[in-house]
Amino acid sequence: MVDSNDPRDIHLSVMLERCVELLAPAIEQDGAVLVDATLGLGGHTEAFLQRFPGLTVVGLDRDLEAIDLASQRLEAFGDRLKAVHTVYDGIADAVASVGYKTVDAVLFDLGVSSLQLDRVERGFSYSKDAPLDMRMDATSELTAETVIAEYSEYDLRRIFLDYGEEKLAARYARAIVRARAVTPIVRSGQLVAIIQEATPAAVQRTGHPAKRVFQALRIEVNHELDVLERAIPRAVDLLRVGGRIAVMSFQSLEDRIVKRALQAKATSTAPAGLPVELPEHRPELKLLTRGAELADDEERARNPRAIPVRLRAAERVRGTT
Ligand SMILES: C[S@@+](CC[C@H](N)C(=O)[O-])C[C@H]1O[C@@H](n2cnc3c(N)ncnc32)[C@H](O)[C@@H]1O
Repeated sequence: MVDSNDPRDIHLSVMLERCVELLAPAIEQDGAVLVDATLGLGGHTEAFLQRFPGLTVVGLDRDLEAIDLASQRLEAFGDRLKAVHTVYDGIADAVASVGYKTVDAVLFDLGVSSLQLDRVERGFSYSKDAPLDMRMDATSELTAETVIAEYSEYDLRRIFLDYGEEKLAARYARAIVRARAVTPIVRSGQLVAIIQEATPAAVQRTGHPAKRVFQALRIEVNHELDVLERAIPRAVDLLRVGGRIAVMSFQSLEDRIVKRALQAKATSTAPAGLPVELPEHRPELKLLTRGAELADDEERARNPRAIPVRLRAAERVRGTT
């Protein structure tokens, strides 16, 4: 439960020093622009604004409460923070709306913030009973309650499999469809009870049995993977040559999308057998991380949110020709 509205008490920013180190070469000059595509409570942005006095940050978030809290936290930086309420696949329009065509760096810290997880009423957590909501943007329409009430058994199974990598997807989808025929499922506690009851005692689960179903619902409600797939190439397209991007993912489906998107732009597109690589076939990106980097032991011990993080970063080495 959140007792304080001070963002510093709510959310510890993950791999902060490493993000600064990776993006620093692109943003040290006066007039540099960083897009924080997941402003959240502004922890990363605050560190960047403090350490790079000539930097402006365009901070995006689909959650208005996050935009409000981060704007209050960062008020002292005046118009060096330009906060925009948007889904991050709208990054190009958001950047244009505050007057920029290209930027020097982009940071993504994916997933939900501790604010969202801790606000019981938003229904993200399987450990606290709340309405089945799970919208990151409280102004959007689709809620987890609607998904659970209206999706067919086939579609529930598909999202639990695809977005939760849940081995018991079919069993859980069946149990939900049976249960909702008797009573509407409107609270997270009801859903957790249905999942628990449908989990055979002999099945060994790592973590809470409802963890993967809740992850899948959150991804579906917020269209998280489709949005990410569009957002990464759009972010790279906005970078000037020498600009840098860093992305932190917290589950394997996100990390796979990020890895593929960065690798695609870090690979020559020259057709096989062409004797000379033409400039337009050269890679647009150079990868800055070998595979994905993890948080160190000290941070993992201090901040459990850092345990699953995978950080990837790249530098733009060629413009579009
Ligand atoms: C992990 S938090 C960011 C925390 C932030 N880096 C900090 O240090 O305080 C992720 C934020 O990204 C936002 N978010 C997630 N998906 C988004 C999307 N598709 N478009 C815009 N914002 C998104 C969430 O609302 C949340 O506030």
